[in-house]
Amino acid sequence: MQLLEETPADWWEVEALYDLCFAPGREALSSYRLRDGVDPVAPLCLLLRNVDGIAAAIRFWPVQVAGAKVLLLGPIAVHPTHQGEGLGGWLIHESLRRAATLGWQRVLLVGDAPYYSRFGFRQMADVDMPPPTNPARVLGLELTPDAWAGVSGAVVKCATNPDAPCGQSTSVLT
Ligand SMILES: CC(C)(COP(=O)(O)OP(=O)(O)OC[C@H]1O[C@@H](n2cnc3c(N)ncnc32)[C@H](O)[C@@H]1OP(=O)(O)O)[C@@H](O)C(=O)NCCC(=O)NCCS
Repeated sequence: MQLLEETPADWWEVEALYDLCFAPGREALSSYRLRDGVDPVAPLCLLLRNVDGIAAAIRFWPVQVAGAKVLLLGPIAVHPTHQGEGLGGWLIHESLRRAATLGWQRVLLVGDAPYYSRFGFRQMADVDMPPPTNPARVLGLELTPDAWAGVSGAVVKCATNPDAPCGQSTSVLT
């Protein structure tokens, strides 16, 4: 199994994995509205590949809450033939380690608390994803101490302008 950063050539193969693993209509989810027209955070979009193809993939997008930069985790999916082997957990740990190295301070996702709590994610009562989103599924993680303190309100899309605060996917963020 090889760990690789996703390249543009991998895009549709990763999309096919997501189509396989998620219910039809996944792109209608409100979290996708935060991704429309915004580049993913390339160095954190990782995949695990073996001779059969892509076994697991994770992507991240930049978003903002109250002017603070936030890393939106997802989608993540593991091919059904490899689920439960630890690949998902490994990809999450590795990508979050890299995110911290790149200077990201806080992470957000919409997902199942029973799964993501093992990585330290907690429900974010004061952070509002675009509707319709079940608030119990809005989960956050601090990569630096108190990174979510005072950061609350609506999650908004990042500017696509590379000079804007959220466009800096590879540099150290404050
Ligand atoms: C969710 C997913 C990414 C987890 O990856 P994985 O490699 O299968 O999981 P791991 O091997 O790292 O971890 C397995 C553990 O997670 C648990 N788990 C998996 N999905 C879970 C969920 N939705 N809720 C709670 N626990 C979950 C398993 O029961 C197992 O628990 P155990 O360690 O106590 O036995 C993968 O199963 C998947 O792609 N699912 C379909 C797409 C999806 O739901 N993506 C996440 C969107 S929120």
